Amino acid sequence: MPDPAVNPRALVFDSGLGGLTVAREIRSLLPATELLYFADNAFFPYGTKDEATLLAHVRREILQLEKRFHPDIIVLACNSASTLVLPQLRTLTDTPIVGVVPAVKPAAEATDSGVIGLLATPGTVLRQYTAGLIEQFAGHCEVVSVGSAELVEIAEAKIHGAAVSRSQLQAILAPFLQHPRAHRIDTIVLACTHFPLLRDDLQTACELDVEWLDSGEAIARRVHCLLSKRHDLANLPPANRHRFMTSAPLASSPGLEQQLKELGFVMPIWLMEQLD
Ligand code: DGL
Repeated sequence: MPDPAVNPRALVFDSGLGGLTVAREIRSLLPATELLYFADNAFFPYGTKDEATLLAHVRREILQLEKRFHPDIIVLACNSASTLVLPQLRTLTDTPIVGVVPAVKPAAEATDSGVIGLLATPGTVLRQYTAGLIEQFAGHCEVVSVGSAELVEIAEAKIHGAAVSRSQLQAILAPFLQHPRAHRIDTIVLACTHFPLLRDDLQTACELDVEWLDSGEAIARRVHCLLSKRHDLANLPPANRHRFMTSAPLASSPGLEQQLKELGFVMPIWLMEQLD
């Protein structure tokens, strides 16, 4: 049992920088939680990897990180990984795990028209888990799915300061825009943690009047619920040692450093081997 008077530690895991959108929500709802962010850039991107390879890789990485850093909670801030690994991972550790999966249920509850968009990586779109979510929660809706690996790259580049091309986004969104019932799509699920970084750009590029839904806030609420059972969150001081680490050397940029500082991460960017 952890000491309730010690700041809890959350391991936030993604293939790259997308999980920062989840880290931001956790930091804002749970300032007392120390964030240890892991960007698995050595294996980026996840959304195009075959399932068996990705499953074995993520399972191994998470278990190693857990052994080494003893987090109080693990946040798998990646839809592509969570929709594949979660059920098995939960049988392999007692540490609570919160996974990020497509916000299909809230979208099905929010839509008036009954036509929903799902924007994810190619992997997440094809997962059995995603099909199960749609069947369970959105059986009464029409779900139009678009898988894009390019959008993940665009989001990463944006963090480093690159401009986002409107015509490139429009080409990616074309299956929504050209869908016979396009005018009826009123909700699009951002089912990749990288995509909220592009929310404004997507809105500008998309000619539809839609609500963009992601899972970030709900994940932070779930983390709060689990950690508050064992930690006196309301009376702990804010955590001040958030660290950001990668599995391979990462070429930094003023844009990334600015984002990390904003989120309270202590510089430098660590290579996993360097941290203890
Ligand atoms: N951020 C990830 C997700 O939520 C993974 C993107 C990728 O590496 O392809 O799916």
